[in-house]
Amino acid sequence: MASLVPGHAFTLQSSSQSRFCAGESPFLKLRSACSESAGLGSRKRLIWRAEGGKKECEAGKGSNASVGDGRRKDASLNLERRELLAASVAGVSTLWSHPAVGVPVTPPDLSKCEPATVAVSGQPTLSVTCCLPEGSAKVFTPTPGSVLKVRKPAQKVDAAYIKKYNKAYELMRALPDTDPRSFKQQADVHCAFCNGAYPSPQNSSAELQIHFSYIFFPWHRFYLYFHERILASLINDPSFALPFWNWDDQKFGGNVMPLMFTQSDTYASLYDPKRNQNHLPPSINTLSLSDNSANLTDSQIIADNLSVMYQSTVKPTTATLFMGAAPLFGDFNDTAAGGTLELGPHTAIHVWAGDPRETYGENMGNFYSAGRDPLFYSHHANVDRMWTVWDSLPKRRKDLYTDSDFLNSSFVFYNEKSELVQVYVKDCLDTKKQLGVTYEAAPGDKLWLQLEPKPLSKVKGLIPKGKDKVAEFGSALKGKKPQDLTKAANTLTSLVTRPTNLTEYATSKGLSEADVEEVLILQDVQVPKTSATHLAVFINLPDADSTTSLDCAEYVGSYVNVPHIGMDMSNSRRINVKFSISDNITKLGIEDQEKITVTVVAKVLASDAAAVTIAGYKIVYV
Ligand code: C2O
Repeated sequence: MASLVPGHAFTLQSSSQSRFCAGESPFLKLRSACSESAGLGSRKRLIWRAEGGKKECEAGKGSNASVGDGRRKDASLNLERRELLAASVAGVSTLWSHPAVGVPVTPPDLSKCEPATVAVSGQPTLSVTCCLPEGSAKVFTPTPGSVLKVRKPAQKVDAAYIKKYNKAYELMRALPDTDPRSFKQQADVHCAFCNGAYPSPQNSSAELQIHFSYIFFPWHRFYLYFHERILASLINDPSFALPFWNWDDQKFGGNVMPLMFTQSDTYASLYDPKRNQNHLPPSINTLSLSDNSANLTDSQIIADNLSVMYQSTVKPTTATLFMGAAPLFGDFNDTAAGGTLELGPHTAIHVWAGDPRETYGENMGNFYSAGRDPLFYSHHANVDRMWTVWDSLPKRRKDLYTDSDFLNSSFVFYNEKSELVQVYVKDCLDTKKQLGVTYEAAPGDKLWLQLEPKPLSKVKGLIPKGKDKVAEFGSALKGKKPQDLTKAANTLTSLVTRPTNLTEYATSKGLSEADVEEVLILQDVQVPKTSATHLAVFINLPDADSTTSLDCAEYVGSYVNVPHIGMDMSNSRRINVKFSISDNITKLGIEDQEKITVTVVAKVLASDAAAVTIAGYKIVYV
């Protein structure tokens, strides 16, 4: 447990621990907690990571309060954000190409586990112990084995399969909690690596975090791999494979919570009472956060879902855009690195399934508890399937697949024999050849793979005509005032200049011009942690508002933020949000325009939410 800093009245709260931590940077939290503590007098709060009393959160230093030791004192890492922003304006964008910290990712020292603890004023302290049993790991290289495991859409499996599947969970739930194969420990694995149980081996001041970066996909792929093998061994069926919740499928019955998980009497071991009761079948799942008051019809939800799938999975042509960038444990930019699928539909499904009656959104709506719902593993089977779908599409630049930091990142898991094994990313890139796992084709994919979003606007060219109607708002600059969405009726339209050096860029990267991707970056977006937010972004549609459908060629993507449920602090979450826009530009026929209008609309924003600000916009080639 944490030790306390003498002389401060504070609430012990391990922040990233125990709440849904989408977009959270442990470093950022420490820092913002410090500034909060220093700036708000009586509302003192400190976030504390115990380690020999070294990491003092020093009150009184304002927003420059620095915490931690080791790496964080490295000058290059302690650059203030504003300096980075300033640097990014001059030529090469320092902000977006900051050196990675903590890659290749290595497994933690399992003896250095801390319980995840959360205290919120007025609420009892929640202390979650989710440490893995200690052990020394053997390197394990998976081989496909003699029986291919075929994962099928959950809506298509038969009663005999469901019975077997339910039995496997029944046996898993019956194992003692001390067994690494037990349901409790399987769920704890997820808690441990999202909720700050282990420090990063390369930067002991930061937590080891498997979300918000390119390790999101491979880590969860291995997690499912071992989970599935444990289930298979419990029922003695080497062919057993998880079903995938086909939430992207809008035509063949995939887009509802799979029925088998909702029948407490027949399939008790697949059931979890902590789910949103308004989202049980036949309620259609939403892949973007939508306001209940929006009263969308099923056909509107379906159209939006298809468009979200298209923008998050078809449009991003580089692996880094789709999967995320290198994790930067302990640096501001680690909040900036999540991929389009993770921060889009993946997050949306967690929130959609989680139970709003529960203080922390349990089970699916909070990472620490998500693994306690069997639905989680079926949800993630589809997340994993999306990686295989993306991988199979034409014109993909698989930049990460040759990145040695990515390939040599490694993790530890307990296998079906309760042995601790260490696995490498490079050994999971091809599910069939390396893991012996494959996915049955899902016919619903076609609908979004072949989607051709149409322009809503009938006018071609820059809209509105005449540049003077909309003010330009370029890159974030030192001293520049961010735009405040909440002060602008929740809709902001700005003019943004496109880059002009396509030929030069393509040549320097050895790419054909057609392969260069144009990317819109919303710089340092800050949203309140205390409320759910969905920012939808459109280009060339200055009249877009919260009722505008996502089903159009002007829609470039969404940033969905999940609230810190139960938290009474008004800190903001900061993130750089990136969207590929080449496809939108082609579909809108505005290739020749020097500038485009960017409209950010708050689709979901609590009425009492604090400011939502954007420090700047930038369009770059990648
Ligand atoms: Cu590890 Cu869906 O999250």
